[in-house]
Amino acid sequence: MTSAPTSNKLLLDWVEDVKSMCRPDSVYWCDGSDAEFQTMAQTMVDCGTAMWLSPEKRPNSLYIRSDPADVARVEDRTFICSENEADAGPTNHWKDPEEMKEILRGFYEGCMQGRTLYVIPYSMGPVGSPIAKIGFEITDSPYVVCNMHIMARVGSKVLEVLGDSDDFVRGIHSVGHPLTEPKQADLAWPCNAENKYITHYPETREIWSFGSGYGGNALLGKKCHALRIASVQAKDEGWMAEHMLILKLTSPESEVKYVAAAFPSACGKTNLAMMTPTLPGWKVETIGDDIAWMKFGEDGRLYAINPEAGFFGVAPGTSMESNPNALKSVSSNAIFTNCALTKDGDIWWEDMGVEAEELTDWLSRPWTPDCGRTAAHPNARFTARASQCPVIADEWEDPAGVPISAILFGGRRASAQPLITEALDWEHGTFMGAMMASEKTAAAAGVVGELRRDPMAMLPFCGYHMGDYFAHWIKMGEKGGDKMPKIFYVNWFRKSDDGRWLWPGFGENSRVLKWVFERCEGTAEAVPNALGLTAAPGSLDVENLDMLPEDLEELLSVDKALWLSEMPSIREHLAKFGDRLPAALLKQADALEARLKDA
Ligand code: GTP
Ligand code: SPV
Ligand code: MN
Repeated sequence: MTSAPTSNKLLLDWVEDVKSMCRPDSVYWCDGSDAEFQTMAQTMVDCGTAMWLSPEKRPNSLYIRSDPADVARVEDRTFICSENEADAGPTNHWKDPEEMKEILRGFYEGCMQGRTLYVIPYSMGPVGSPIAKIGFEITDSPYVVCNMHIMARVGSKVLEVLGDSDDFVRGIHSVGHPLTEPKQADLAWPCNAENKYITHYPETREIWSFGSGYGGNALLGKKCHALRIASVQAKDEGWMAEHMLILKLTSPESEVKYVAAAFPSACGKTNLAMMTPTLPGWKVETIGDDIAWMKFGEDGRLYAINPEAGFFGVAPGTSMESNPNALKSVSSNAIFTNCALTKDGDIWWEDMGVEAEELTDWLSRPWTPDCGRTAAHPNARFTARASQCPVIADEWEDPAGVPISAILFGGRRASAQPLITEALDWEHGTFMGAMMASEKTAAAAGVVGELRRDPMAMLPFCGYHMGDYFAHWIKMGEKGGDKMPKIFYVNWFRKSDDGRWLWPGFGENSRVLKWVFERCEGTAEAVPNALGLTAAPGSLDVENLDMLPEDLEELLSVDKALWLSEMPSIREHLAKFGDRLPAALLKQADALEARLKDA
């Protein structure tokens, strides 16, 4: 609607301020309705941004190609503008908030000319739930509006719940491509590739984003709000905002445990969250696939909610074999970005499990299987409603959250890291998370395959000093005591010397989940190794798994010499956090080194 459906003066004043800076042709307040989605979608179709996929193949679904200069999150253009530089820490880019805003005001000035300014009221978490947080995203992108409809709870209900409160996150987003000439034609994917800024102001709970229309750069409820801003709120208020999936694991005896897992971008969260176990009788259901907010319940345990309402998932590699539930989630009402297009109006990507044919690739070029290029961009994504996931758990929207029994850490490492390691206790688990290392993926701009330390998979998403973040983890453990989840470190990505995956992964990961479950119950046996604890011989269920015994042995083994040679890099990594590094983590590094040197 064009008139403001609220009397919240703070909100109205802010929208007015942004409007006078950005000078859009009109202002539109989103109500989150289906009709609105249709209008926005049609707007995109009319200006060439999107096309409808074949209604027979994929009803109510949109196909979109971005500009090739705007295909992933841009970490080197992402800033935490805390008042003090020290509070952003060594892992974030920082600029003084006023200086950064001055720069951005220069860009925002008139940047929405020829466009509509959309105001998106959204709730992260079920609307009205005591743990949900309200945000407003102002954007000039109908693509963002459509995606936010799926990824968050959007609409008038949010305004009702907010009332006159000032407790909301203020997000401004512009693609940075004003239409200044009277009849200037728009671009299919407007953006401002040379001037991208993804900036956060933790103290004032603001997000200012400019120049990119893609994913986490533009859908501000997700990484910007639910992780970078929320992580600061969580530290201040005594809870946790984490880059974690949440799954419900049910044993053949119908016992239930909830597991959260932090893996870096494009390292298997969506796949694990909705996997189909190969182990008979075991069931996995989804609570969330990317973000977990965890708070102490009255019983002293840690309860998690998924603040999101949809999945913005990696498309390539998703098949009926690897992740049937993701494919079923996108059978209708979905958005596909940077996938390939088939002749009959459906989508295609690499390793989809469907024979490739003549296609149009993500850059609109004719494509054939032998042409030597991939048809989809490696960070091509689907946007899907969580409610459409066939294995979404009944309690996925329970405002009380679900009690977490185990937290898994895991990265993508061809060597060194075993299939499964259990932490000795919370503090040791915090250390394992803090030194997490993973090979870079296409989810962010940069060199794919390069090894980097990505603590708790939060390197790109922690809105404050990571030394303080580690201290917060340790403090949470002290508070929760023996009611805290057990911590494990997994690695599905170990390779043999000749480059084979040593572990089949996907549904077979249920074998590791079963061991985790049984460790929480106290029924499976573990044995110590230099890194922590691992599965005792025979305790990991490998029945009917077609695997060489020596491969399994290698998967669970610890190469002490290799790990000792890695100690300097671990220490160098920890040293980066200076005097904000909790002493407990240095103690853990010493203990690890001592165990590695122990014959
Ligand atoms: P973000 O949405 O970027 O946070 O990523 P994610 O952590 O949800 O990763 P996702 O589940 O989408 O997996 C990314 C890639 O890893 C896909 O190409 C998958 O096919 C691959 N993958 C996931 N699980 C496994 C596994 O168990 N083994 C192997 N070898 N590959 C996997
Ligand atoms: C990630 O990169 O971790 C994602 C995709 O989940 S994005 O929303 O673009 O951040
Ligand atoms: Mn993610």
